[in-house]
Amino acid sequence: MRILTGIQPSGQLHIGNYFGAMRPAIELQDRGDTYLFIANYHALTSQPDAADLRSRIRGVAVDWLACGLDPTKATFYRQTDVPAVTELAWILFNHTPVGLLERATSYKDKIANGLPANTGLFTYPILQAADILICRADRVPVGQDQRQHIEITRDVAIRFNNRYGDILTIPEGQIRTDVAVVPGLDGRKMSKSYDNTIPIFGPEKALRKIIMKVVTDSTPMEEPKNPDTCNVYALYKLFADDTQLADMRAHYEGGNYGYGHAKQALFEAFWEYFRPMRTRRDELLADPAEVDRILDDGGRRARETADPIMADIRQAVGLA
Ligand code: ADP
Ligand code: TRP
Repeated sequence: MRILTGIQPSGQLHIGNYFGAMRPAIELQDRGDTYLFIANYHALTSQPDAADLRSRIRGVAVDWLACGLDPTKATFYRQTDVPAVTELAWILFNHTPVGLLERATSYKDKIANGLPANTGLFTYPILQAADILICRADRVPVGQDQRQHIEITRDVAIRFNNRYGDILTIPEGQIRTDVAVVPGLDGRKMSKSYDNTIPIFGPEKALRKIIMKVVTDSTPMEEPKNPDTCNVYALYKLFADDTQLADMRAHYEGGNYGYGHAKQALFEAFWEYFRPMRTRRDELLADPAEVDRILDDGGRRARETADPIMADIRQAVGLA
């Protein structure tokens, strides 16, 4: 079974991204033939500054490798290293009714949020379809917001196969509904658009300061507290083992335990959890050539998969 998913090069990653998207995607590397790529063509639709985009592409590669992506298990590559993606996108455009893309909610949301309504943004789902179909992926694990893009991919692939025969594999989306939403500093969903995030990586002092900002109620220090309605405790659950959790619960319920203490414990558990990732990240940051080598090698392997599939497609449509 081939599993494929794309990663947006979207700047500083937070612990919501880690538990909600990165960790589940990285775990897939032990479950099948896994393809993970940095969607750098797609990133252009958000109108980034060139230098900023360049650094985000490398940054996201470093962060994913640091968090456990094993390039000997998964094929990890930059989308731009597989030019067949854009070639296939062009072919698929000719099988995509304009109305299908007009119904795409993410396009409407993005223009409502101020992105320019250009054809890159409009045809984004077809580039995504090409990412998936060029590797004949069977399974595509994504967040809830990507459900419609997978449906468009299936729709276009079925249209193509109806005309040319069984050339493309019709993929199944695997929508992540089992991962919990990580709360942010203010208790709403952690999101960079709410400015309530805890970054995975950063200087110790700055991160400690951020964690001290988790919002709590004003129960006085001496009084017992309810862990189940407390945001600090909810975050602590992500990092602590059962004994540590039972300990904190007892402290909350016993009184004479302030939120400041709980936040200290949260910081320590968070800092310990990401310790091996920080070490690996520092090594990778010190050796950018190694990161390039990993991505180049992944790109070569992805082309070995994609190029023969592209050849079949050209043949089928009469371009070979
Ligand atoms: P943000 O909301 O910060 O802009 P993105 O939309 O870039 O985050 O999310 C990238 C991935 O991380 C998505 O797959 C999303 O499901 C996951 N994710 C983001 N925030 C959270 C969260 N608070 N809890 C769980 N998963 C999250
Ligand atoms: N659109 C996806 C997102 O915003 C990223 C992506 C690009 C992707 N190509 C893909 C995901 C192919 C799965 C498969 O998260």
